[in-house]
Amino acid sequence: MTAIDRYAVVGNPVRHSLSPIIHEAFARQCQVRMEYSGMLAPMDGFEACVAQFFSAGGCGLNVTVPFKERAYQWVTERDPYASVAGAVNTIIRSVNGYLGCNTDGLGLLRDLRQNRGISLEGRRLLVLGAGGAVRGILGPLLGANPAELVIANRTRSRAEILAERLEDPRLKVVALDALRPGYDVIINGTSAGLEGGRPGVVGELFGNAFAYDMVYGENSRPYLEYAAAHGASGVCDGLGMLVEQAAEAFLLWFGVRPETLPVLAMIRERG
Ligand code: ATR
Repeated sequence: MTAIDRYAVVGNPVRHSLSPIIHEAFARQCQVRMEYSGMLAPMDGFEACVAQFFSAGGCGLNVTVPFKERAYQWVTERDPYASVAGAVNTIIRSVNGYLGCNTDGLGLLRDLRQNRGISLEGRRLLVLGAGGAVRGILGPLLGANPAELVIANRTRSRAEILAERLEDPRLKVVALDALRPGYDVIINGTSAGLEGGRPGVVGELFGNAFAYDMVYGENSRPYLEYAAAHGASGVCDGLGMLVEQAAEAFLLWFGVRPETLPVLAMIRERG
């Protein structure tokens, strides 16, 4: 019997990652034979850990917090999404080395458009935050042809740096306390929810807007409950984005796109 193809998600911490469950479900569904595990890399040993994984025959990696920027440095080639983001969440072996891809933004777009039926074209979009999570989504969001994409961050200079990188006239930076209503979709890309908080924006902003949080479960509650209480037309956490970015990685590795909705339902049921 031939050795089974090995894949993994590398991060720190990685114990709570849902990626192994998601990819195992995709593999069963698509009848792909593979093994997918969580791999904890020490903070000072990410590069050695990844090199060791591949030299031992590993086929592909997902990369999660806090290593996406270091993965961008480590790979030998980058796809356009990774290049714009300066961050890599999927690594594939290529002819001459390792190709780094970023499927986070595509995952967000698929969740919003296909799963939630939210159209982005010609719409006014607001992204809260300007950290690592936001870097990966701005390029794909602009690719969806919004009328306007505004970034608002507690530390304004970080938002300005991101806007300068992308150089797109539709991309603007506004101070959190200067935001006024009129956005169609408001995406929380801050890590405030991880400490039980939410970004400090006025409630009126959410009247008739669709509120999305890039984190999922409990951590998304402060933001999504605030948005719902202030008239959001709909709210959604980032679990669908997680499943969709995984499906994009699976597609890159195996050339087949798994059905995501049954997997999303299975994960939601697990609680
Ligand atoms: P990540 O990789 O999760 O994006 P990060 O790069 O540390 O992590 O970025 C965290 C983001 O959440 C930043 O935009 C941060 O704002 P600052 O740049 O001002 O630090 C934002 N953030 C974190 N806690 C926040 C809070 N309580 N209110 C508003 N923004 C917050």
